[in-house]
Amino acid sequence: MKIVKVLLGNRSYNIFIGCGILSEIGSELLRFNFSQRIVIISNPKVFSLYGSIVVDSLKKVNFEVSSLIIPDGESYKDYFWSYHILSELLSRGLDRNSCLIALGGGVIGDITGFVASVYMRGINFVQIPTTLLSQVDSSVGGKTGVNHPLGKNMIGTFYQPRLVWIDVDTLKTLPMREFLCGMAETIKYGIIWDEDLFKTIEAERLNILGLSQSHIGDVIKRACEIKAHIVSMDEREAGLRSILNFGHTIGHAIETETSYSRFLHGEAVAIGMSLEASLSERMGILDKVSVLRIKSLINSYGLSTELPPDMDLEHLIKHIEIDKKRENGEIKIIIPERIGKVRIKKIPLEDVRRYFEL
Ligand code: NAD
Ligand code: GLY
Repeated sequence: MKIVKVLLGNRSYNIFIGCGILSEIGSELLRFNFSQRIVIISNPKVFSLYGSIVVDSLKKVNFEVSSLIIPDGESYKDYFWSYHILSELLSRGLDRNSCLIALGGGVIGDITGFVASVYMRGINFVQIPTTLLSQVDSSVGGKTGVNHPLGKNMIGTFYQPRLVWIDVDTLKTLPMREFLCGMAETIKYGIIWDEDLFKTIEAERLNILGLSQSHIGDVIKRACEIKAHIVSMDEREAGLRSILNFGHTIGHAIETETSYSRFLHGEAVAIGMSLEASLSERMGILDKVSVLRIKSLINSYGLSTELPPDMDLEHLIKHIEIDKKRENGEIKIIIPERIGKVRIKKIPLEDVRRYFEL
């Protein structure tokens, strides 16, 4: 078992990474001073795959466990379903020392974290992420949230879990398309922070795509270390944490333009990273060889690096202009300087068009 620490004073916690560790979660939770009642929040697909392993593990050490299943999909990560969960928790009599477990991908993790942060002004929650994206990104760092018709993740809190429990074996049932989305976010860590990680993802492609557990476990651990470090330096995204948004300015614009239906998030981020790398080259910052290396790595994981030909650039630019990262009339964009290092660049609104004429 590998352990990564997220250092946040009295809100510090551990990320545990291992193979076949789902059945050990019960004994780990005994170390905490939680009350008996635990509620697992999940969706039908993930719960049918892994629910019984987690339930049995908790029951074995005498927790009183129940489950709360919400439908599968981003459209259920909303206020209505969080209200439904809150009502259920109240009627089941959860107290302030109870614990929620998020068993699933980023959708389940985000809504569970949000509910945990507001139920009785905050109760314990544990992340058991089961997608690669949630293992390397969303389960770590304490961003919680639900969507609103006027914007994605617009209602949320910063609220840290008590621990993150990553069982790499759960990836065996994950559809390949979802796995590759997680790889897009993993490649992102290589570009923004760690050239060695980038090189490992290049060199170990066959092992990673073949789901070699030791290779994937190592890559997940490194991604979690990087995210843990960044979050411990800047929990509330006052500055440094925004580098995690590399590829997301264009990525979000693509998702908005296609009404979140054509591309999965990681697929849009993959195109965004490629185009933002090209943008950096045009600005005279990133060298051509690095741009080609970035694009070729993204491609080698079956992800696209180009906008689809039918996409209207004008529309994308409009979305970028109203992007939520706009601050004081400026867009904040993350630009690679070299593989392993990025800088935060502010672009005045009036210059956005000039920079993004791709
Ligand atoms: P997801 O939670 O929708 O999961 C993708 C699909 O995989 C779902 O159908 C799910 O049921 C299924 N699934 C999950 N685990 C499985 C498994 N082991 N085997 C088979 N199927 C499995 O998507 P996601 O990509 O994990 O997360 C996306 C969400 O994460 C978005 O809502 C996004 O906003 C959020 N997010 C949050 C943060 C953060 O910092 N909080 C960061 C990035 C993304
Ligand atoms: N996924 C970006 C962040 O956690 O800040």
